[in-house]
Amino acid sequence: MKKTVLSCIQPTGDMHFGNYFGAVKNWVDLQPKYKCFYGVVDYHAMTMPYKPKKLKESVWSLVINLLAVGVEPENLFIQSLVPEHTELGWIFNCFASYGQVSRMTQFKDKSSQSEEKAGGYISAGLFTYPVLQAADILIYKADYVPVGKDQDQHLELTRNIAQRFNNMVGKDYFVPPETLHTETPNVRSTADPARKMSKSAGEKHYINVFADEARMRKQIKSAVTDTGDTKEGEMSPGIENLFNLLKATGGHEAHASLMDDYKAGTLRYVDLKTAVADALVEISNPFRERKAELMSKRKEVKNRIKVSSAEIRKRAQQTVKEVKELAGLANVRF
Ligand code: TRP
Repeated sequence: MKKTVLSCIQPTGDMHFGNYFGAVKNWVDLQPKYKCFYGVVDYHAMTMPYKPKKLKESVWSLVINLLAVGVEPENLFIQSLVPEHTELGWIFNCFASYGQVSRMTQFKDKSSQSEEKAGGYISAGLFTYPVLQAADILIYKADYVPVGKDQDQHLELTRNIAQRFNNMVGKDYFVPPETLHTETPNVRSTADPARKMSKSAGEKHYINVFADEARMRKQIKSAVTDTGDTKEGEMSPGIENLFNLLKATGGHEAHASLMDDYKAGTLRYVDLKTAVADALVEISNPFRERKAELMSKRKEVKNRIKVSSAEIRKRAQQTVKEVKELAGLANVRF
């Protein structure tokens, strides 16, 4: 039997190459080998100050973006269409250590962002966010969770919740999941390689996967190469970033030959930039086409995801039913 993989992503605006190479490409690549569940976590998105209309739009545009880059519709669900996540989340609140939850560093980062944004307000949901994440994972009895290193603490909490539950019920009901760390490139902003490619820094700091060809080429053309403060014999962060991007696209031959030029001291930056731009445009051409097609049939897309969420929900309902029985909750059939 195939092992189970689960991962989730928060709905936020555009998808850039940092998101794609850092996470989503990996999701796509895992699909043939594993039984995969991929969630768009709108309940998690409510933990920070937000606007309802914008949330709804972001959810559907992320769904379309994920489908456009190759996530299979049957693997994709929207978290709030599987409300059992929150039910199990509550149950897990009672199996999570308050002390441990208090030590989550993502909470510390996000709570100060929330405070700044909302005049001192921090939602209690933000505090219990990692408990809901544990429910996302354990509700499908996931074996592997592909996430970045920043999620290690949440995975540790998830394993502890599973163990505490198992201890109480005297049965190895949940299998503690493992993190699947895959090698992902460290994609930096081309405008400022000192920072990660990200949306929060502003438009020039990320390259949208669905941007048109001209814009993509322009962004790569204007990528920062030498900042002047690189040490003798060291590659500047901007050049390194361009090489990393080229490697991530799978352009190994171009990468090798340009690297030879670099080592020989004959690399022309314009050649490296052209190679990166060509490679990014080439991978994203089919994405753009598929996105246009999906946008023209939004109604069908909605229906398709409704169906897949309902199908996935059956698994979640089964788990919650078993958990309620084991946990001593009233569990009758209506
Ligand atoms: N916390 C994750 C992030 O910030 C998102 C997430 C929510 C998630 N639920 C999950 C990731 C379950 C993996 C599994 O990126």
